[in-house]
Amino acid sequence: MEIQWYPGHMAKTRRMITEQLRNVDAVCEILDARIPLSSRNPDVDGLTAGKPRLVVLNRVDQADPAVTRQWAARFRQGGAAVLETDAKNGAGTARFAAAVRELLAEKLRAYAEKGQAGRVVRVMVLGIPNVGKSTFINRVAGRKTAKAEDRPGVTRAKQWVPVDKGLELLDTPGILWPKFEDPAVGLRLAFTGAVRDEILDTETLACHLAAYLGERYPEALKTGYKLAELPAREEGEDEIAWGCRLLEAAGSRRGFRISGGEIDTERMAKTILDEFRGGRLGRFTLEAPEE
Ligand code: G4P
Repeated sequence: MEIQWYPGHMAKTRRMITEQLRNVDAVCEILDARIPLSSRNPDVDGLTAGKPRLVVLNRVDQADPAVTRQWAARFRQGGAAVLETDAKNGAGTARFAAAVRELLAEKLRAYAEKGQAGRVVRVMVLGIPNVGKSTFINRVAGRKTAKAEDRPGVTRAKQWVPVDKGLELLDTPGILWPKFEDPAVGLRLAFTGAVRDEILDTETLACHLAAYLGERYPEALKTGYKLAELPAREEGEDEIAWGCRLLEAAGSRRGFRISGGEIDTERMAKTILDEFRGGRLGRFTLEAPEE
């Protein structure tokens, strides 16, 4: 499965991060709580080394709460401050300013001692497309304007966004994709909707997702599609072939048929992806820290 990425934009974004680093006090990395590994760009650690780090685990409403707690503990062990948020509904976002000030407590004390108590704290916000970065920034800064143009291939000018009198965010323009070399990473990004469908074959993706759920979360598939039993994976059967059979079973149960009576697998493919992403099949975390 080929997933396109944008090395030109990546190079530009990297340069911008390096240039702007001296202007910020901390880096806020927004991750998708469902895929905290796959939603990171591994270059960020190297590019921002030495800067205090706040990790935001966003989309906690869609993730498995127990695994989110494990991830939060893991990132704290690594020295970062951690915030768990649902930017869409606002849970957790009100703690942002306090979390930043706790993270920078020593530096802020030093400023105060030098008589610079009013100095503005600046935070660079990084996140892959669709992680919820704009929604998060809008929440934290109390902005109402929603952006529409932050899509792959579209860059905006860099901007400073005030949060309060003493705190500003640098909303990074450009794109910082994670690495796609590992096909499992690409798949997880596609399952969660971080990668746009038009660069993937929806049916193939849906078969992968059905197989993943059939393997890890059979009960969710059974409940979601009212299947008494899942078709068993046969000896030597390809994962994707099994996934396609699961998809057909679900499609049949939903009554999705094209003229002639065949199962409308295309419609079922779109449906399972939408329902998975919309949380209607449950809350899932696709990566655990111990794996
Ligand atoms: P980006 O800047 O990182 O590219 O992402 P953006 O904020 O545009 O968010 C992408 C979509 O994800 C939006 O939905 C947004 O509402 C949703 N979202 C952001 N954070 C969360 C979260 O914590 N939980 C959930 N469940 N969703 C989140 P959309 O479908 O594009 O718009 P809308 O339907 O919300 O209007």
